[in-house]
Parts: sequence; C-alpha cells; structure tokens
Amino acid sequence: MSEVLRIPLAAVAKPRPEPVVRLSKFTRSFGETRVIESLDLEIAPGEFVALLGRSGSGKTTLLRTLAGLDDTQGQDVRVPPSRATVFQDARLLPWKKVWQNVALGLRGGTPRHHAEQALHEVGLDHRLDAWPLTLSGGEAQRAALARALVRKPDLLLLDEPFAALDALTRIKMHALVLALWRAHQPAVLLVTHDVEEAMALADRILVLDKGQIAAEERITAVRGHRSGVVRTLRAKLLGHLGLEVGDGVYADLIGREQ
Ligand SMILES: Nc1ncnc2c1ncn2[C@@H]1O[C@H](COP(=O)(O)OP(=O)(O)OP(=O)(O)O)[C@@H](O)[C@H]1O
Ligand SMILES: [Mg+2]
Repeated sequence: MSEVLRIPLAAVAKPRPEPVVRLSKFTRSFGETRVIESLDLEIAPGEFVALLGRSGSGKTTLLRTLAGLDDTQGQDVRVPPSRATVFQDARLLPWKKVWQNVALGLRGGTPRHHAEQALHEVGLDHRLDAWPLTLSGGEAQRAALARALVRKPDLLLLDEPFAALDALTRIKMHALVLALWRAHQPAVLLVTHDVEEAMALADRILVLDKGQIAAEERITAVRGHRSGVVRTLRAKLLGHLGLEVGDGVYADLIGREQ
C-alpha cells in the first residue's frame, strides 16, 4: 500500500523575497501642507511599478524621497544603496561630451569603456563624443538612461521620462526600457501621467491621490498580450484619476457636440 507523502506547505511555498523598497506610514509636509500622508509602499526586487496620479498629488515628492534627494525628516525609508533616477529632461551637462556625462561619478577602472557599453545598449554608441546640445530629445533621454544604467541600479526611478517625446519616439523608448529592465532586472518605479504607458509596461499600477495610494492594480497578463484586460483596467484607472469614462473619455472635459 502506498503511503501518502505529506509535505508541510511551508516547505514548498516559495519564500517572498525581501522588498527593495519599504516605506511605512511615510509622511512628508512642506510647511503646513501635507503632501504625502501616512503612505505604505513595498516594491519587490525586479518588480516594475507604475505610479499614476493627478498633477500635484505628490508623485515627484515620493520619487525624490526614494532617490535620496529629499529630507526624510528622520523617517525609516528603506531603499537599496544602488539606485538611479531619470527625469523628464535629460539633465546632461552641456560642457561635457555624451560619454563623459554617462561616466560622471564612476570611480576607478575604465569609465569610457563602461560609458561606451551603456551607450551601446541604448543604441547611442555612435554619439560617444557628441556634445549634448546636438542630441535630439529622444537621444538625450537615451543618454540619460545609459547614465542610469551604468550604475547597475537595483532601483531605477523614472519621473515622466518620456513625457516630452513625440508619440513614435515614446513607443520606441517603451521597448528600450523593457529590454533594459529584462536584461538588468532592477526594480522600477515609473511615474507617468499616461495610463496606456502604465498598462503596457508595469506589473503593478498605483494611483496616488492626495498623498495616499488610492488604488492598486496588479497586471498578470504578459506584456504584449494585454488587450483582453486593458479596456476594463483603463476605465478603472481613469475613474481613480477622476475622469468619467463614457462613449468618449474626454466628453465631460471638452464638452459634447449637439
Ligand atoms: N520644495 C517644495 N516646497 C513646497 N512645496 C512643494 C515642494 N515640492 C513640492 N511641493 C508641493 O507638493 C505638492 C506635490 O508636488 P509634486 O511635485 O510631488 O507633485 P506631482 O504629483 O509630481 O505633480 P506633477 O504631475 O505636476 O509633476 C505640490 O502641491 C507642490 O507644490
Ligand atoms: Mg511630478
């Protein structure tokens, strides 16, 4: 007679990895104004999280906190030591060549070689010795991504990095960011106003409202095969952002034709 093998559940369950980001009841005020209010946030290693929210909801404030660019006012902010940030504007130093901008702050070794590798990954190795002012907007953002990448961050913070780009360049940048994310597997926090961008790229979407997480949506469908879920998800997210979805999403904003 065969014996039933009993394995305790704890022995087979995959242990949850320690989060790379952990904020607990985090609050940030400027003077009397409370911008982030008792916010809890955890991001797992390699997770791609998008953060949506109306203008002024506190997205950049939160990102600056995680980047170590803001005063945490003595609160416990757990982030990995290796992190990098890309903003809406590339913030390249105009008096340094592209490769020097990418290599900025790298110590020891062969900085030009590391910069060249990173620029190769973003398709810009032919502009190593160019001056930043001669780059297009899309190229400048690719250089900014290379500068982030060269630091091998465990946490990549992106604050509307594609917002100023034309639609076609933006789509190409989405593909590039996904390729870089797959290759290097940092955790990513992408701040964006673009619901479509969030749905195309993220594993999890958060909506920030009045300094708090007002909604959280996890997307399990694999990227490139999400058409079945985006319609419902878009309606939900736009609802959380205060837009009513009818026949035309913007009808209430722009008025209806008679
Ligand atoms: N250094 C500061 N001093 C005073 N107020 C600030 C400061 N930084 C941000 N704020 C205020 O905090 C609020 C949130 O700003 P934040 O930049 O985080 O918004 P956001 O969600 O990134 O907006 P947007 O989508 O327009 O970029 C705003 O009301 C802003 O004016
Ligand atoms: Mg902002």
